[in-house]
Amino acid sequence: MTILGAGGHAKVVIAALRALGIQDVKVLDDNPDTWGQTILGVPIAGGFDLLKPGDKAHIALGSNAIRQSLHDRLEGVEWQTIVHPTAWVCPTAVLGQGSFVAAGSIVQVEVQIGKHVIVNTGATIDHESIIGDFAQIAPGAHLGGRVRMHARSFVGIGASVHQGAILEAGSTLGGGAFLKGTLPEGETWVGVPARRLVPSTKG
Ligand SMILES: CC(C)(COP(=O)(O)OP(=O)(O)OC[C@H]1O[C@@H](n2cnc3c(N)ncnc32)[C@H](O)[C@@H]1OP(=O)(O)O)[C@@H](O)C(=O)NCCC(=O)NCCS
Repeated sequence: MTILGAGGHAKVVIAALRALGIQDVKVLDDNPDTWGQTILGVPIAGGFDLLKPGDKAHIALGSNAIRQSLHDRLEGVEWQTIVHPTAWVCPTAVLGQGSFVAAGSIVQVEVQIGKHVIVNTGATIDHESIIGDFAQIAPGAHLGGRVRMHARSFVGIGASVHQGAILEAGSTLGGGAFLKGTLPEGETWVGVPARRLVPSTKG
């Protein structure tokens, strides 16, 4: 399998593949400075354009927007879904192509997860939640039941989301926050309870 990206998240993904017994891995990255280097002993073979239609690959990049643009640029790739063996995904849950479920996370009953979503280390998603394409739930974050995360939305490390809450497209909930209600499209909210992050006027 080919891993796209050579940063910290790619290491987490390669480690998950090894835990699954998959050793045959290649890494590509668009930064020429990385070519010829290795991550976790795997050589970085070149840029993303080396990928051919029909290849099996996984986008291991933490930026929701970049995962989406790469997915849109690279046609015909067989995107691989990866679930760490210590994660628990209820058999009634649905996981979209290219998504990643990291070690120790829990995906509960009738959850629907879209394409190229990251459910990071130790995150939990409770019953009937719906997670849109290219969204991301950071390590140790918790979602109650029937939460709706729209495309490219992000829940930060250690944040909590009240049951039934909504994160609209491209929105960000900061680390450690508690969200109840609706986080509007493209906005960043932080704190307990979460409120809109207003840019500082200092300096
Ligand atoms: C919310 C967040 C996206 C804001 O990032 P940013 O736009 O770069 O904001 P800054 O760091 O410039 O901080 C702006 C202000 O918000 C405050 N702030 C930032 N993040 C905050 C948070 N999570 N909770 C409360 N306050 C926060 C800062 O203290 C700062 O306050 P000030 O203006 O009074 O000094 C970011 O801080 C965050 O929480 N990211 C989540 C990271 C994460 O989950 N990583 C996991 C990777 S696997």
